[in-house]
Amino acid sequence: MTPPRPKPSARRPRRPAEATPPASGGGPIELLPLAAGPARHPAIGLGLWGLGRWTPEDEARTKATIARAVERGIRWFDTAEVYGAGRSERLLGDVLARAAGATPPFYVATKVSWEHLRPAQIRAALVNSLERLGRTSVDEYLIHAPDSRVPLAETMPALEALWKEGRIGALGVSNFGVEELEEAERHLGEARIVVNQVRYNLFDRDEAEPVREYCRRRGILLEAYSPLARGVLAGRYLDGRPAAAEVRRRLVRLFDAERLPEVLDRARALRALAAEAELPLAAVALHWLRGRGAAPVVGASRPEQVDDLLAAWAAQPTAAVLDRADAIARGDRA
Ligand SMILES: NC(=O)c1ccc[n+]([C@@H]2O[C@H](COP(=O)([O-])OP(=O)(O)OC[C@H]3O[C@@H](n4cnc5c(N)ncnc54)[C@H](OP(=O)(O)O)[C@@H]3O)[C@@H](O)[C@H]2O)c1
Repeated sequence: MTPPRPKPSARRPRRPAEATPPASGGGPIELLPLAAGPARHPAIGLGLWGLGRWTPEDEARTKATIARAVERGIRWFDTAEVYGAGRSERLLGDVLARAAGATPPFYVATKVSWEHLRPAQIRAALVNSLERLGRTSVDEYLIHAPDSRVPLAETMPALEALWKEGRIGALGVSNFGVEELEEAERHLGEARIVVNQVRYNLFDRDEAEPVREYCRRRGILLEAYSPLARGVLAGRYLDGRPAAAEVRRRLVRLFDAERLPEVLDRARALRALAAEAELPLAAVALHWLRGRGAAPVVGASRPEQVDDLLAAWAAQPTAAVLDRADAIARGDRA
């Protein structure tokens, strides 16, 4: 089902769409099919979660970051009602309204909180998200995470009803394991789960692997969040700068005191591999995911990071480099 087009913005686009420079040396970002349908899901996107503390300065920087992404051809934006308690959606809506009419079109994804999974709550959550985003429909709507207290038998039909109304283009989930996916799929009629967004990167993959295999079999696109391991795979924290307490909290397992030195050692070995191949370290991290059929949703909190991310995406690591990176990240030093 094709959702109704969002209301065109009353404001004029600041820059004509045809003046948008290409996303990378390689032209526009490739589109991936969803559930064997037409190709419409960009292969890489920008996530709008960890953008600071939502001070006026942080908000101005975030808007500039989103605007740079729009200008450089990024079209998939990932947000959630819980990010900044709605501020992330509102900032995204503001910037995209100024770029209305851009081609290719935007692909906006947001998420219903795990605290809003009862049917009446879902409807209200979507209405509020759409209001903040300034749209009549969203391209992708995900359950942010399951809540064991609310049966999926309640949640999934409510989402399907919104999908049938055309308010949701693609239906998805996040942080779902195989059993939860099976259960969720059981409670859908005509609609299908077409996306599962999970934490997946070179260092953090064991939990995601069985899910990836299930998704591959079911034609569900795996979106990889934290693809740069919160910046480690962009070279952060490799030169002795300690990881911030906030970062440690966000990726507890990766940054836990015992595992951290080993992770940073492996990241340094990956950086050396990338340097030898004349590539940015992030290119190795992102193309490793791409090679595994996952679509990375990358965090960038300033415009220069958007440029770095697109430079990394435009690079082309060889299969041999990616195989070696895979081995190094697993701890094989031979
Ligand atoms: N579904 C879920 O439960 C869930 C959970 C987590 C994330 N997500 C989504 O996934 C997105 C990405 O997640 P993430 O932020 O954890 O991912 P990430 O891409 O692994 O890390 C992003 C962070 O890396 C740092 N970074 C990025 N580019 C850099 C560069 N060129 N040089 C140095 N550092 C750089 C930045 O840190 P600084 O900002 O500190 O500079 C940035 O915020 C989120 O925004 C969100 O949309 C979803």
